[in-house]
Amino acid sequence: MDFLSVSGFLLSLYSILNLVDRGLSLWAPDCGSWGIPCRGTSGRSYICPLGHEFYQFVSRANLMISRLSLCLLLVLCQNCLFLLEQPSQSLLFRHPRFEWFCNRVAWVFYVRFWMLHHGGTSSKQSVFWGNLSTMRDLDKGRMTQSERQSKTSVKTTRKYLDKSGQRRFVGDKEALKRTQQYPSQLGDAVHQLYMQELSRPVVGSLRVNLTPSMEKTAVQLFDELPMGDVWKDACLLPVFQYLYFCRHTRTVFWVCLKLSQFMIRMG
Ligand SMILES: *[C@@H]1O[C@H](CO)[C@@H](O)[C@H](O)[C@H]1NC(C)=O
Repeated sequence: MDFLSVSGFLLSLYSILNLVDRGLSLWAPDCGSWGIPCRGTSGRSYICPLGHEFYQFVSRANLMISRLSLCLLLVLCQNCLFLLEQPSQSLLFRHPRFEWFCNRVAWVFYVRFWMLHHGGTSSKQSVFWGNLSTMRDLDKGRMTQSERQSKTSVKTTRKYLDKSGQRRFVGDKEALKRTQQYPSQLGDAVHQLYMQELSRPVVGSLRVNLTPSMEKTAVQLFDELPMGDVWKDACLLPVFQYLYFCRHTRTVFWVCLKLSQFMIRMG
């Protein structure tokens, strides 16, 4: 499923809307341009996380995280939990929308762990962001160099000396692809955390305290929302156009009205 196509994005929204109450939604966005191996080309850095946006693979990855942040908002609205996986040096968390989501909207936990502890084959660390209070149990502690070497069976980077004698490394594309697969032990571990979380009492979930008036209808509440930021970076115009013009979507009148207002705003 291509998340960046209109239909792919709508399909993921649809599947979020079908989550059960307190379901777990697991996200593993393509780390491609966020990771260390391609930092030289992508131009991303801590202070300039959006990188060289004139490259399509960079701008598309930025768009992906804007949309992902919108999806996570919807996941929270459904009263569901989420987890998001990345390799440990990914700069994804510096994307302004995701940062806003973690610092302003939800309480988000962070854990860094060795995939090798969960049956992984390459010696790399992974991180999870998420709002499961039990997730820190994924971290099984330090790994010594020898322990790492004995367990590693897939090498993802190759180190070499360049002409001027400087030490450099390149990523091995094939091997990196293979390590994108999760070991089944990790699945078991996540399942266990999730079950633990469900057995605990529910804690306050959002950083903002919203108490919508119960007397108003959903339409009225929606109408009162400020329309300042229309998330142009998430490229929603084609999505709205699809919903508005598609013969097969049956939308009620006020939704059409809202969509057209949004479309005018987005020009
Ligand atoms: C995570 O978010 C969900 C949905 O808002 C909420 O039910 C849950 O309590 C949150 N978990 C934590 C630990 O904040």
